[in-house]
Formats: sequence, structure tokens, C-alpha cells
Amino acid sequence: MVRLGAMMEFEWGTSTLKTEVELYPQSREPDLAGLFVGEWRDPFLVVDASVRMLWDGLLQPAILSSSGIYAMEAEEILKNTFSLSQIWDSMSSAGINRDTPVVVVGGGLVCDMGALAASTYLRGLPLMLVPTTLLCMVDACLGGKTGVNLSGNKNQVGTFYPAGRIVISTRFLETLPGREYRSGMAEVIKTALIGDRGIENLLREASVYGGSNEAVPEVVRRSLAVKGAVVEADLTERGSRMVLNLGHTVGHALESASGFRLSHGEAVGLGMLAEAAMAVALGGDRNLPGEIHRMLDVVGLPGRMDVDPLMEEIRKRLERDKKTRRDARTWALPFDWCDCRLVPLTPDQEAELLPGALEVLKV
Ligand SMILES: NC(=O)c1ccc[n+]([C@@H]2O[C@H](COP(=O)([O-])OP(=O)(O)OC[C@H]3O[C@@H](n4cnc5c(N)ncnc54)[C@H](O)[C@@H]3O)[C@@H](O)[C@H]2O)c1
Repeated sequence: MVRLGAMMEFEWGTSTLKTEVELYPQSREPDLAGLFVGEWRDPFLVVDASVRMLWDGLLQPAILSSSGIYAMEAEEILKNTFSLSQIWDSMSSAGINRDTPVVVVGGGLVCDMGALAASTYLRGLPLMLVPTTLLCMVDACLGGKTGVNLSGNKNQVGTFYPAGRIVISTRFLETLPGREYRSGMAEVIKTALIGDRGIENLLREASVYGGSNEAVPEVVRRSLAVKGAVVEADLTERGSRMVLNLGHTVGHALESASGFRLSHGEAVGLGMLAEAAMAVALGGDRNLPGEIHRMLDVVGLPGRMDVDPLMEEIRKRLERDKKTRRDARTWALPFDWCDCRLVPLTPDQEAELLPGALEVLKV
């Protein structure tokens, strides 16, 4: 098979696990069926039902050369153990064996579920991911986290199971709704802050996608390079991988306190701003909140919200946050570009820092 565009390889720990990432240039349409050769022939497909409909012409040859298919709606309420068991049942009905590869085509939700099914069915099958959202391309596809929700709690059941192969075509983004695209951009900004300031210069161009805009695959490549380095150092999130939670501690609280009126990306963007303000209070760079605000503006994400009516709810949500352990919670705080630190804060320290941090979000 001819490898198109950038090619990256990540190795995980001391084991022999390896992830190959292939990135198509924007100008080339992918040939999925053409990927199914050698160890990847006759795969079982797990596909996002909307993507299947929107990309029928591209997917049909892949479906015809597969050994079975499970199509699912990408809805958070369906990201559960029941849907997981339906994928297993479908794998069983298709009669797949330990050599059958699983190919997942979809955004983060379908990739998380398909990868969990692949990691558990017959104790683990070869896995290829074909991400179709920006968030999944720049973040979720790499790093091996799989999962489903349990009793309303996000990703409570899961495994660490890095895909053997990730094939990325930014052409899929042509049909992605703008709000989903901007959600992915929040993760791009997070990645730039963590490890590659140069991504900032690509944001304006990449905020418009389609055609032959090669800024988008370049943003994907650079984001994956940063995430890959973080995850290679700590696959199972014992320590340093937690920097990837930047923006998410406040972000998750805002997302749920707003009754999910804020999208995940909008909430993470605002979360990064608030957390940068917390870092300033602890001696971080004073210019950073302003710089984050400008980047959010460039990609069309909000940099302000009326937090006053939500204060009590935000506080409650933060208390319930699953990262809380004993008395101190570990925060990923951006002190400067490429200087995101893990800072344990006690409830008293949080109570002191949070009001000022949320102040920066006010309209
Ligand atoms: N494993 C990880 O490391 C990781 C990291 C971040 C997020 N996640 C998970 O990812 C999920 C969110 O994923 P997401 O933001 O990629 O979105 P998603 O998978 O929830 O999809 C969002 C919407 O976009 C649609 N869609 C997908 N691709 C499309 C395309 N090309 N054209 C048109 N519509 C398309 C889907 O059908 C869905 O309606 C969450 O469940 C989250 O927990 C996992």
C-alpha cells in the first residue's frame, strides 16, 4: 500500500505495541477499500451511521470488502454497555476470529466504543481507526483510551488499547457541522499551548476547511506530534499525561452546569481561559489569558460567558469531578506556552482561586 502524506509511528512503553498514523493530504480522497489488504483484509467495520449515509460512495466498496458491519448513531446516551454488547453480538454473528481486524470509521464517540469492543472481543483484535471529526483526528484517535459511559458517568468503563493503525483524511471534515469543527479547534488550541506554539500561526487558515487547504492536515499532524509525545511518556495516565486535561476541569463543570447548552469545545475553550487565570494567580505568565482569548476568537469559539447564575452549580460540579482524590485535586495549569504544570490544589486553595478565575469569563 502506498503511504500518502505524513507518516508517524508511536511506540508504547517497553511493549511491542506500535501505532502507525497515515495522513492523507487534503487534495486526495481516501480509498478505504484499498487499505484492506494483508493483515487488514476482510475487516469487521464499526461505522458512524451519519458518516455512512453522507459518505456512501466512499464507504460502499469498503463495506463490500468487509466481513461484517455495525453502524451506530453517535449519541452520548448510546455510549453505553448495552450498545457495546450489541457490537459484540454483531461480531459474533459475523463469525469473526482472532485474526479479523476491526476498522472503526467515525468521531471520538464511535472510535471509543469500537476500540473498546475490539480490545475486549476474543481478548483483543487488530484495530484500525479512521477518524471523521476534527476532535478525533487531532486528539481522540491517538493514545489508546477506549470507553463507554456508565450510570451517567463519562467513560467509566474502558481500556488502554492503542490502535495499530490510524488513517486520517481531512476530506471527511467537509460534511462536519461547523459547531463540531470548532469543538475540535478547542483541542487544537489546547495542544498548541501544551507543546507547539507554531500551531497558533496556522489557526486562521485552518479555521476554514475544505478545498485544497493544506493548513488543516498540517494542524492535525502537529497536534498529533504533541499528543503522541505526551502519551508515549505515560500511556496509562499515571502522571504526566494529565497535562492533556488542560481546560477540562473547569470545562466539564461549565459544560454540565450550562445544561449542555455549551458544547464540549466551547466549554473547554472557556475552561482554558479560567485555568490560565488560576495559573496567573500562582505566578504564571500574565499575557497568556489574553493570548488564549485571541486564539478562541480566531477559530470562532466564545471567550466570554455569564457565569454568575451558574456559580453554585459550577462549584457543585467541580466537587463531583472524578479527578478529585482525597483532599487535593491535580490541576493542569498553563503557566506559559509549553509550560503546563500539574498542580495539586486543596479545596481551600481552589475556593480561593476559582472566583477570580471565573471572573475573566464575564461578559
Ligand atoms: N479516547 C480519547 O482519548 C478521547 C478524547 C477526547 C474525546 N473523546 C470522546 O469523543 C467523543 C466526542 O467525539 P467527537 O467530538 O469526535 O464527536 P462525535 O463522535 O460525538 O460526533 C459528533 C457528531 O458528528 C457526526 N459526525 C462525525 N463525523 C462526521 C462527518 N465527517 N460529517 C458529518 N457528521 C459527522 C456524528 O454523527 C455526531 O452527530 C466523546 O464521547 C468523548 O468522550 C475521547
